[in-house]
Amino acid sequence: MIKQAIIPLAGLGTRLLPLTSVFPKELLPINGKPGIEYILDECIEAGIKEVVFIISKKKKSVKNYFYNDSFYKKIIKKKKDSRIIKEYKKILKYKKMIKFVYQNKPLGTGDAVLKTRKYIKGNFFLMLLPDDLIIKHNCSKSMIKIHNQHKSSVMASMNVNKKTVSRWGIYKLGKKINKTNYFINDVVEKPALTNAPSNKAVIGRYILPKIIFSKLLNQKPGKGGEIHITDAIRSLINENKKFVAHSFSGKYLDCGSMSGYIKSAIEISKL
Ligand code: G1P
Repeated sequence: MIKQAIIPLAGLGTRLLPLTSVFPKELLPINGKPGIEYILDECIEAGIKEVVFIISKKKKSVKNYFYNDSFYKKIIKKKKDSRIIKEYKKILKYKKMIKFVYQNKPLGTGDAVLKTRKYIKGNFFLMLLPDDLIIKHNCSKSMIKIHNQHKSSVMASMNVNKKTVSRWGIYKLGKKINKTNYFINDVVEKPALTNAPSNKAVIGRYILPKIIFSKLLNQKPGKGGEIHITDAIRSLINENKKFVAHSFSGKYLDCGSMSGYIKSAIEISKL
């Protein structure tokens, strides 16, 4: 059973400047609730018991958000406000399940994953990229179901406009399992249009095997000088490790860009 998740949170959030110049993007409110809480709620509903946050020194306020007990206690003592008491209880519930590790240099998602190595106990774990919100359907929950059926790794997949392939990890699909799930034959990080094997993109939900850490330990930097998780996944696929691409049925919202962030708030307010 998959009980642990990891969330890389050390990114600088430059696509959301100026909002992110003093404020971590994951704490920016989307319809009155920080983006990261949507991600945590998805994990909890999917049966995850422990979440490892990969933060940086610059993003210490992400930790402070969950560790502000004395502030809450003082306020609650003065004002017996039931809304604040309820919010504090929720924060305490999150705090109990979160561990923090640090990635102080932005060396890529693969490097961020490597920082969690000592914490992962099971053979597989879930990773969620917090810029990628998926609403109306719990994508992590569906992916865990597929993992349980096939004992494989699983990644979320979505068809994208061909012109945008160089923004994503792109799949080459293999054998069909059913309408929404295919085995993956290859995956390429941000290919040029001419090299893209399809228009099926990796979206930020991954069920990864523990053995990926040994791949990442010896991995050379790829595109843009970063250690990409996609490159480590590619090596595992080349060694015939099973990876499934899952077309999710929820709605994808890219809240890491300004237009996507604004759209997220509108979409979520309609739920
Ligand atoms: C990351 C991954 C990429 C994936 C994307 C999904 O890219 O490297 O393969 O398609 O997330 O959002 P980033 O958004 O960090 O550039």
